[in-house]
Amino acid sequence: MRKADQKTLIDAALAARQRAVAPYSRFQVGAALLTKSGRIIGGANVESASYGLTCCAERVALFKALTEGEREFVAMAVVARTPHGPRPCGACRQLLAEYARGARLWVADSDYPSKVKEFKVRDLLPNAFLDVPGVPVRRAD
Ligand code: THU
Repeated sequence: MRKADQKTLIDAALAARQRAVAPYSRFQVGAALLTKSGRIIGGANVESASYGLTCCAERVALFKALTEGEREFVAMAVVARTPHGPRPCGACRQLLAEYARGARLWVADSDYPSKVKEFKVRDLLPNAFLDVPGVPVRRAD
């Protein structure tokens, strides 16, 4: 993984964060996915007055990418104003485990975007539920 890829993806997450719709928590999160073909797809959190309907930045970016036909992901960057960067919630970990299993995850405090912590998506949700019995979906591991 080139350092340039990491900075480019963090910058894309910072740009996506500017478009967060977070009037309730005011916690703005930006995410960006890098596809195997080199595309970058950003997303930000979107909140609802019915709080539980809120969708995290990670899932917005992932859903955008998937519904644009992307299936192979190299990395996701996530940024927010929080010490050491945000950590994806359990729901996002499940979806990332399903659809971006081989990807890296880079997180950073949006005020210190050059201080990046790296995780592997596959390590974030041990023993994830990945296959519905009887449904022939094969996911690379
Ligand atoms: N949020 C994200 O978008 N990603 C995370 O990794 C953590 C939480 C959002 C959801 C909600 O809009 C706000 O941050 C506060 O939880």
